[in-house]
Amino acid sequence: MDERSYCRALPTAFLCVVLLGFTEGQFFPGGCTFEESYSSCGYSVSLGTNGFTWEQVNSWEKPTMDPALPTGSFMVVNASGRASGQKAHLYMPTLKENDTHCIDFLYSLSSRDGASPGTLNVYIKVNGGAQGNPVWNASDTVTEGWVKAELAISTFWRSWPPSHPADFMSPSQSFLSACVIFEAVSVQGHPGFIAIDDIRVLAHPCRKAPHFLRLQNVEVNVGQNATFQCTAGGKWSQHDKLWLQQWNGKDTALMVTRVVNHRRFSATVSVGDTSQRSTSRYRCVIRSDGGSGVSNYADLIVK
Ligand SMILES: *[C@@H]1O[C@H](CO)[C@@H](O)[C@H](O)[C@H]1NC(C)=O
Ligand SMILES: *[C@@H]1O[C@H](CO)[C@@H](O)[C@H](O)[C@H]1NC(C)=O
Ligand SMILES: *[C@@H]1O[C@H](CO)[C@@H](O)[C@H](O)[C@H]1NC(C)=O
Ligand SMILES: *[C@@H]1O[C@H](CO)[C@@H](O)[C@H](O)[C@H]1NC(C)=O
Repeated sequence: MDERSYCRALPTAFLCVVLLGFTEGQFFPGGCTFEESYSSCGYSVSLGTNGFTWEQVNSWEKPTMDPALPTGSFMVVNASGRASGQKAHLYMPTLKENDTHCIDFLYSLSSRDGASPGTLNVYIKVNGGAQGNPVWNASDTVTEGWVKAELAISTFWRSWPPSHPADFMSPSQSFLSACVIFEAVSVQGHPGFIAIDDIRVLAHPCRKAPHFLRLQNVEVNVGQNATFQCTAGGKWSQHDKLWLQQWNGKDTALMVTRVVNHRRFSATVSVGDTSQRSTSRYRCVIRSDGGSGVSNYADLIVK
């Protein structure tokens, strides 16, 4: 029996409702094919303004006349006739395994006139932290049918109860949970559909998205530069974009990347002019062709 839970961000609070369910095979709980209702997979949706929201469609059971709409059973946002910047959220159940995860999913951006219907963003929130900026997005064009993307999520639990008394001071670090949020954003005058299908939480590493190794804490004196070292397994490509994301959601400097060998690369970034106020937590994010990778959060300790 595995724990399933769902994870919703409310404006001021973070709510995780735990459900119970069975799993089997090579997948961890948390995936959904959307053949069944999304809520039975532990998923939830936000009720957007003016009904801008994710809906479940099953074109086999209930055919639609719109040729721009994909066929099958999936989640979709109808972006037609919307003002720009409206947002709809789809929440995955909370991930709690003490492991490196790969999540993959199919997405489709479609429209009748070939113009992009809007943006699909993915956020990964840890322990109810800030939603911040997306770790992955797609927006420029319509896709040719369904496209697969991967999310390599490296989360590491600390043991509980903590082995070190200091860990009791920050219980949020001792028990990690990650929430994945799919966000559709409308653009005015671009009718079309933003769709998601076949979300899987895999029991093996991602094929394309690089997985980060554990990001270590950094301790410096006031005024010193702090340097984080982001190391990932996987191939580095020139088109990849690597950056550091702060706990409060802000993105920091792009990084200098150094390839260690053909299966591993490393990047460093300095947080300059540290003051007591810059005490914070950072993680590494990479956006590559096949998807995105996200490290654990590490502390910047300024003495
Ligand atoms: C999408 O929304 C538009 C505008 O509200 C509506 O005319 C159309 O029927 C909707 N399409 C589907 C498949 O729901
Ligand atoms: C998509 O993400 C990239 C960062 O990887 C950012 O530069 C770009 O502005 C984003 N696009 C949209 C439409 O949000
Ligand atoms: C998680 O993994 C770390 C490192 O392997 C280990 O020290 C810790 O005890 C594990 N925590 C749980 C809750 O399994
Ligand atoms: C600290 O980082 C800044 C850029 O953020 C750089 O200009 C400066 O030379 C660095 N100082 C040291 C001592 O490395």
